[in-house]
Amino acid sequence: MNPMTQLPDPAATPLEEIDFSDPRMFLEDSWYPYFARLRDEAPVHYQAESPFGPFWSVTRFDDIVAVDTNHQDFSSEPAIVIGDPEEDMPLDMFIAMDPPKHDLQRKAVQSVVAPRNLAEMESLIRSRVAAILDNLPVGDTFNWVDEVSINLTTQMLATLFDFPFEQRSKLTYWSDMATAAPQISGGDADPRERETALLDCLATFTGIWHEREASDSAGFDLITLLQRDPNTSEMADNPVEFLGNLLLLIVGGNDTTRNSATGGVLALNQNPGEYDKLRADPGLIPSMVSEIIRWQTPLAHMRRRATRDLEFRGQKIREGDKVVMWYMSGNRDERSIDNPNAFIIDRKNPRHHISFGFGVHRCMGNRLAEMQLRILWEEIMRRFSLVEVMAEPKRVQSNFVRGYETLPVRVHPL
Ligand code: HEM
Repeated sequence: MNPMTQLPDPAATPLEEIDFSDPRMFLEDSWYPYFARLRDEAPVHYQAESPFGPFWSVTRFDDIVAVDTNHQDFSSEPAIVIGDPEEDMPLDMFIAMDPPKHDLQRKAVQSVVAPRNLAEMESLIRSRVAAILDNLPVGDTFNWVDEVSINLTTQMLATLFDFPFEQRSKLTYWSDMATAAPQISGGDADPRERETALLDCLATFTGIWHEREASDSAGFDLITLLQRDPNTSEMADNPVEFLGNLLLLIVGGNDTTRNSATGGVLALNQNPGEYDKLRADPGLIPSMVSEIIRWQTPLAHMRRRATRDLEFRGQKIREGDKVVMWYMSGNRDERSIDNPNAFIIDRKNPRHHISFGFGVHRCMGNRLAEMQLRILWEEIMRRFSLVEVMAEPKRVQSNFVRGYETLPVRVHPL
């Protein structure tokens, strides 16, 4: 990315002169015509040079599913973001592992989001959402991202880890630092501040691990689950793997739900007819939640590495090549989704989207995310006739996290 130059003309610039990893496309939300061209003209496209090295872009819905469900040819190791892992701060996490090791580590923690556990969490989440919404400054303009989205997801994260509640803002900070590295996703974190933050995360959780081990915890939090499973019970002795998996679980449950909670407000304000539909029938909330997650696509991409020379959709991909699946493009693919650029809260098949991925790595927390967003909207509709967007959002500079730093709003009580 060269901040001094303007983004190229999406219609007239030859494809080989466009940098599809340029995070400014996401910061400015101007990526749509670039990726529409890729879907039409070069759906499996090789970019020979970028700040992240050469990579393939896969941009159509069906092709993304084909790559995502073929972990034998398209490995998640050593990383699932476009940038390469940092040599001075290596991190191992199960999202960036292939079976069988991936399966063992995922199995150790996935019961935290088992249906029985989710049912138990529902009333806790509802009471927290209610408290957050009841304390909003009616009559003032405020930042929805801080007051609602971050507040809600941080409380949820603290619960998943059984993390000291009064210190929970640390979790959000570590999560933001983890994803904002320039070399990983084009973000703008200061490398030294990032390193200090991640080491603090490791030290804090190592302390929690030992305390919990000593107390013989009977809980159902992520740390206790890791300790209880023979495949992960020694994880704290391996800081690279412990920190990696902590960050996976922190980031996984944080940015994504947070940005969907903000994206929904924005989408409804941009589509007042859909807001009217929602007021007329709050029973549409579950399908609206899926539509928000599709429309927002909180994670723009996942990347893979070809494990052998192969041919894919007529292109020769070589062993070791990076293959980037652009989820936000697949979710706007008119070949698979009717009227994909429209936000329609009563779509016929609303869970037909690619935001949670497919295959062995399909999002572990998808039902938890949907539940949180459903409860949020149920409680919003009980209190407010309108959450009104007062100014344009400020977006995150990243080609990985599609999100918001600010969304100024006002709430109008019923
Ligand atoms: C994996 C998206 C919420 C935990 C993933 C993947 C995506 C994703 C795209 C990778 C899928 C693939 O490679 O095929 C989302 C979105 C969310 C969300 C859009 C919210 C709207 C959550 C929550 C949690 C979570 C709340 C908390 C438990 C994880 C974990 C993985 C994962 C642990 C790794 C799974 C594996 O490698 O097997 N998520 N996620 N996610 N997500 Fe989520």
